[in-house]
Amino acid sequence: MFMNFWYPAEDSESVTNKPLKVNMLGLPFVLWRDEAGKAHCVSNTCSHRGGSIGDGKVVGNCVQCPYHGWLFNGDGECERIPSLGPIEKIPPRSRIDAYPVEERYGLIFVFLGDLPEAERPTILPIDEYDDENWRVLRMRYTWKANYVRLVENQSDPSHVEYVHGGMGMAGENTDYQVPKFKIDETDWGAGTMTVFESPGSPDHEVGAVSTKGRSDAGSGFHGISMTWTRIRFNPQGDGMNMYIYSVPRNELELEIFLINTRNCRLDPDLDKNFLSRMGVAVEEDRIVVEKLEPAIPSKDTIGEFIIPADDVLMRYRDRLKDYEARGWRLDLAEMAKHEHRMVYAIPSPARREHPDDWAVTEAPRTQAPITDNNTIRNQA
Ligand code: FES
Ligand SMILES: [Fe+2]
Repeated sequence: MFMNFWYPAEDSESVTNKPLKVNMLGLPFVLWRDEAGKAHCVSNTCSHRGGSIGDGKVVGNCVQCPYHGWLFNGDGECERIPSLGPIEKIPPRSRIDAYPVEERYGLIFVFLGDLPEAERPTILPIDEYDDENWRVLRMRYTWKANYVRLVENQSDPSHVEYVHGGMGMAGENTDYQVPKFKIDETDWGAGTMTVFESPGSPDHEVGAVSTKGRSDAGSGFHGISMTWTRIRFNPQGDGMNMYIYSVPRNELELEIFLINTRNCRLDPDLDKNFLSRMGVAVEEDRIVVEKLEPAIPSKDTIGEFIIPADDVLMRYRDRLKDYEARGWRLDLAEMAKHEHRMVYAIPSPARREHPDDWAVTEAPRTQAPITDNNTIRNQA
């Protein structure tokens, strides 16, 4: 798992003036809102003697550790140590890691890392989110899967015809092959659009726009755990988009926030049809993805025979190697070695300004050098 990316910690409405504990990247965090309604995220482990801050309460703008009542503000600074009495200056070493928070698309995004603002990867944008010609639906799922398997699945044009038979595409035509596609690379991702022959949707209402014939569809990844899918039902451009923002709660538990936008059949009464079609498709993916072996794919193509239809997801694996070379991959083996004996926090941006003032150890990262910009392919 990687630090230095934005992750969707929770739905906006779940974060209130009561502390909410959430796991991300296998580590515990606390979310809460201050008196002005601004959302905050800090590491859950108290710098005093390891109390679980998220089990405390919100006092004013701070969250209070339940063990000895230390108060931490949204910047992770300790504002009060009750047992020291009134003191002039709180020792800076009492601080805990606080992470940048951005509330967008009904989600609380947290930047888990120490990069300065200008260097941070972006959040996958939804340009049409506030456009009244588009209708937005939201869904949420938990999978017992590694996030890499989800991103690879969403970036994989060749699974659609088999896994999503009901959605159409070319199906069992023996002369069908994944059309040649051109991969578009962006700063933080890659993807492709392809033309499919679609039999149309079996759902009557959705089928009114998702008709038999040519349809454009494509998908890609953004950052480490975000994906987009774009489907145009007809040449007039009627269609829908799906955006996945996911967060690994741990290596094998994944929380998926899915946002669906559509520019046709805007009647709210039809939401249930779209929600049900999306639910079916997600379930079809889940059943396959949760059973993939190994559950956590290797960094290269060990144990796999890769074909050109897998090219987008190979680009994703290339990016992972690049991020590892930058020192962003958590050293989970090292952390597991010290389980129950050491506590770690993902380093926050303030660690760069105050490198020495921290009680909680920062999470170790692997330091694999990059040797080749391309995944070693075992390609047909
Ligand atoms: S452990 Fe948190 S205040 Fe003591
Ligand atoms: Fe799928």
